[in-house]
Amino acid sequence: MDNILDRLDEKRNAARTGGGAARIEAQHRRGKLTARERLELLLDPHSFEEWDMFVEHRSHDFGIDRHRIPGDGVVTGYGTINGRLVFVFSQDFTVFGGSLSEAHAEKICKIMDQAMNVGAPVIGLNDSGGARIQDGVASLAGYAEVFERNVLASGVIPQISMIMGPCAGGAVYSPAMTDFIFMVQDTSYMFVTGPEVVRTVTHETVTQEELGGAQTHTARSGVADRAFANDVEALLELRRFIDFLPSSNRGEPRSWPTADPIDRTEPSLDTLIPENPNRPYDIKELILKVVDEGDFFEIQPDFARNIVVGFARIAGSTIGIVANQPMVLAGCLDIDSSRKAARFVRFCDCFNIPIVTFVDVPGFLPGTAQEYGGIIKHGAKLLFAFAEATVPKVTLITRKAYGGAYDVMSSKHLRGDVNFAWPSAEIAVMGPKGAVEIIFRADLGDTAKIEARAQEYREKFANPFVAASRGFIDDVIPPRDTSRRIARALHMLRGKKLTNPPKKHDNIPL
Ligand code: HXC
Repeated sequence: MDNILDRLDEKRNAARTGGGAARIEAQHRRGKLTARERLELLLDPHSFEEWDMFVEHRSHDFGIDRHRIPGDGVVTGYGTINGRLVFVFSQDFTVFGGSLSEAHAEKICKIMDQAMNVGAPVIGLNDSGGARIQDGVASLAGYAEVFERNVLASGVIPQISMIMGPCAGGAVYSPAMTDFIFMVQDTSYMFVTGPEVVRTVTHETVTQEELGGAQTHTARSGVADRAFANDVEALLELRRFIDFLPSSNRGEPRSWPTADPIDRTEPSLDTLIPENPNRPYDIKELILKVVDEGDFFEIQPDFARNIVVGFARIAGSTIGIVANQPMVLAGCLDIDSSRKAARFVRFCDCFNIPIVTFVDVPGFLPGTAQEYGGIIKHGAKLLFAFAEATVPKVTLITRKAYGGAYDVMSSKHLRGDVNFAWPSAEIAVMGPKGAVEIIFRADLGDTAKIEARAQEYREKFANPFVAASRGFIDDVIPPRDTSRRIARALHMLRGKKLTNPPKKHDNIPL
């Protein structure tokens, strides 16, 4: 028996050593933790149950059969985060660059299947050179098996990807099909093909960082949702993030105790809106003052900054926030902001997270760049997403709600449940200047007449009461009461049941 136990220890130690001391040291030198160190930080102490530690690859070509490392480059299993079950895989860059063989893929698929059966999130810590070259088509098959599971799990369990090293090929396409992608600054990269291939094919010279670093993907491509300074910060933030989410579409996010009283008032909100309607203000100030303990987990903070989306809690329960940001492009909707918010709204709707929308939007961004880029189709994504969402929807118009953008931003007409406005709201087809220049074109040369018409328009339309008189706005509320009124609306909506007509699936304008 002792012998067998010694052998077990030996095998476990071999698996724990991964690619060996030298490669672990190289990983540390790059400022990266190992696959196992990462899991230790991510999961509650002693909660990790590892599976398939002894799985090895089955390849023979190019001398790889001389190197069989138990675990085959990925550590898989389950554990808890603040007591809640999660399934995890953590790729080990010290073993064949974390590349994915058939066996490595089977390990990932096994935990994904189990996560689906029990209804728990899957978190992938990705650090992989993609399909293992020596494994040939078997590794491609392995990736496709993972992809198929990503798709089937989409909308059933939350799937989160943390990119923690250079990820290429399949190692980026699987994350691309998950709900959220986070990256680590300076040590993680994502590209379909690396700089060498780019140089050969397009003759462009580009560094890994420029091609697929955290800055590129959080600010430019919008592929990644957020980046963190290092492995430790990334994993601790991931713990914070997962607490906002439910375990699956069968449940609701866990409720958390809060020290903020539910009936609180915030007098400083009464002066948030500047006197001059063309002056910007920071919508994040409103968000932070309204949500529990000012705790807001923003998604894509550096991409399409004219719209702000993210998770917070009101009265202890998770909400998804969508808010126009007057500080950037005056809060206009454009291609990127529509795509960003549409995806976020759809995530919330999949996972029973109520949506709170703050509206201050002068309209869609005009111009050839937007039209040629397909703003019609991309803007429709957000319209579609809000319209199909059946979760509780509470909307507050703080200032401008003009034109199509009024309709889009979770209006009453798109089954908004409770629609509030502040007294400063201006709800109309367009702003006074534009409106008067169109309907009184004949008077354009007469400045005094035009100004008088604009003033008349302002008095008639630049307020919330026309909409409120038709019931499109349920109530006009003092800004200081915002948190309390939203909390009560959400509480009232807890029993909401609404279903869309039966269909195979919808056909959102992709
Ligand atoms: C086998 C691999 C590997 C791979 C890396 N390694 N990628 N082994 N298959 N795909 C091994 C290296 O040989 C090396 O082994 C070790 O991992 C570390 O790699 P380095 O190159 O030394 O590290 P670094 O300089 O940091 O570069 C990392 C990298 C680079 C950017 C990921 O290795 C790279 O470009 N790899 C190939 C990426 C790629 O093209 N993958 C296939 C994609 S196709 P030793 O023994 O020397 O330490 C794909 C298709 C899926 O994924 C389907 C998509 C739809």
